[in-house]
Amino acid sequence: MNILTFRSNEELNEAGAGIITGLVQTNPRAVLGLATGGTPVGIYEEIVKTYRKGMVSFKSVTTFNLDEYVGIPEDHPESYHAYMNKHLFDHVDVSRERTHIPNGNAPELEQECARYNQLLDDAKQIDLQLLGLGHNGHIGFNEPDHALVSGTHIVELKDETRQANARFFNSIDEVPTHALTMGVGTILKAKMILLVVRGADKAEIVHRALKGPITTECPASLLQTHPHVVVLLDTESGRLIN
Ligand code: F6R
Repeated sequence: MNILTFRSNEELNEAGAGIITGLVQTNPRAVLGLATGGTPVGIYEEIVKTYRKGMVSFKSVTTFNLDEYVGIPEDHPESYHAYMNKHLFDHVDVSRERTHIPNGNAPELEQECARYNQLLDDAKQIDLQLLGLGHNGHIGFNEPDHALVSGTHIVELKDETRQANARFFNSIDEVPTHALTMGVGTILKAKMILLVVRGADKAEIVHRALKGPITTECPASLLQTHPHVVVLLDTESGRLIN
């Protein structure tokens, strides 16, 4: 595990974007696993800047998002479909039919999970999976539990996750109670994982995830078993591990 700590958000964003665009420059048909949330916004901004300079093209790239809320329309401003359009897809030359996000409004959610798993199987392997980290150690929406699910599945969000995400909604009551998420098995199958964490409020969970015991009670701790993980931290989130 290669852990890099940055003194500024700008440097962290440039490093994260550089890893992703560097991969796409050398492998234009790369399969990218993408994340949403507050953490990657600045990285997507940098990627868009690099694209606008003509230094990278996404036209042959395939993308798979980690997760989507259940039960809010795709055009709801806080859906992960809307997020990806706003922060990345609307600004680069990615081909829409090669972008994939679970459909949280599918009439049969189990079938939707099976469909998403099939798409992931067809793609064979994600080349780079971008991840943020939940305060409780979740990756994707794989919440701490006594056992974890390997493939895409429906998850009930923990109260702490809904509280953390309430900042994006008018009130906590509006935060969906369920989501569809890629499973930990799929995440760990990626060739490379890029975990990005920011903020003092994540220092403890960063320490648990990267240095603590490997346990399903902290899903991100399973990343310790992966052979090719790069972790980008700011000084605050890395406070307890350096
Ligand atoms: C987002 C995702 C989540 C977030 C995590 C951190 O697609 O899967 O695991 O990465 O909840 O969220 P932020 O970045 O908002 O702190």
